[in-house]
Amino acid sequence: MSAPAANLTLKLPRPSDRDRVDRIVAATGVFRPDEHAVALEVFDGAVAHPGVDYHALGAYDEGDRLIGFACYGATPCTVHTWDLYWIAVDPGAHRQGTGRALMEASEHDIAARGGTLVVVETSSRPDYGPTRAFYEALGYDPAARIPDFYAPNDDLVTYTKRLDSSRSTSRHV
Ligand SMILES: CC(C)(COP(=O)(O)OP(=O)(O)OC[C@H]1O[C@@H](n2cnc3c(N)ncnc32)[C@H](O)[C@@H]1OP(=O)(O)O)[C@@H](O)C(=O)NCCC(=O)NCCS
Repeated sequence: MSAPAANLTLKLPRPSDRDRVDRIVAATGVFRPDEHAVALEVFDGAVAHPGVDYHALGAYDEGDRLIGFACYGATPCTVHTWDLYWIAVDPGAHRQGTGRALMEASEHDIAARGGTLVVVETSSRPDYGPTRAFYEALGYDPAARIPDFYAPNDDLVTYTKRLDSSRSTSRHV
């Protein structure tokens, strides 16, 4: 059972955190090289032009070191749907509530911006079992599955969560 993430600061990441993002993404061990490159691309877009295509949120420990991040954005051609594009936490900090804190803050921000449906996509692979358990623990429901989407025997699993857009009006990050 993770304790509430004490001494955690959530804020817009700095461009200089790119190396930490690079290391965290590598250290998780679940992303292919092409996915790793896309994670950095999304991070770069989010810090260079916050809110244009992507929003980013960083989680910092008491030494002001980035230990996790999330990137999300409004889904083009929808009225109120947002995609959670990326979330990763340094494996050394897993199960301490950092991922939950990042997701909850992202959801608050999305709700404050009028979003009412959050979509996350992940893989059916066994090594993504903890990730699926994480989303389900946070109230995400499996909504769709496309067999062999990522690769043979590697399905796309789409989770959704409805937000109450009235629940937050002030936690823009
Ligand atoms: C998924 C991830 C972001 C979770 O981060 P985290 O900081 O460890 O998560 P939390 O500590 O906030 O966990 C919140 C809850 O999720 C569930 N959960 C998290 N990790 C879990 C695991 N390994 N096994 C089972 N349940 C898990 C638990 O219910 C947990 O609550 P509890 O610890 O009180 O039981 C992290 O494991 C990660 O970076 N994974 C690799 C990258 C990844 O898969 N990103 C998503 C790509 S689609």
